[in-house]
Amino acid sequence: MSRIVFVLNGPNLNLLGKRQPHIYGHETLADVERDCRALAKELKLELRFHQSNREYEIIDWIHEARAAAGGIVINPAAFTHTSVAILDALNACEFPIIEVHISNVHRREPFRHHSYVSLRADGVIAGLGIQGYELALRRLAWLIDEEKKT
Ligand code: DQA
Repeated sequence: MSRIVFVLNGPNLNLLGKRQPHIYGHETLADVERDCRALAKELKLELRFHQSNREYEIIDWIHEARAAAGGIVINPAAFTHTSVAILDALNACEFPIIEVHISNVHRREPFRHHSYVSLRADGVIAGLGIQGYELALRRLAWLIDEEKKT
């Protein structure tokens, strides 16, 4: 299985660190990317890190991943709760997918309790802050390594 891993981030996550820091913390998306890159190196994963406010761009990256990657870590942000199109794109992928939310969506407004993406995700991490991304990458690396053994 490919060791390329996509880390995809949805709308408004470009404002991480500035936007509602009491909910999302003070670290920026650049901090997330830096931490993910350092860990990916350690885990011998090749990282493709992206953020977009546009649904179609996220779908296009999922299609790219489908052709080349061994897994996806995705924080679809608000698209989590609305996007059948992102779910359909993920359903077209055969590798492991981990959904990450910085905040604990289950402790928040009821409309955040439903996730289309969770219908496909192999695992979901919520409420662990930006550390959730690193935990998701560790899990993906483990799954990719396990797959290699079989
Ligand atoms: C989020 C949670 C979503 O409900 C929200 O729309 C976001 C970020 C999170 O990381 O906690 O933008 O995905």
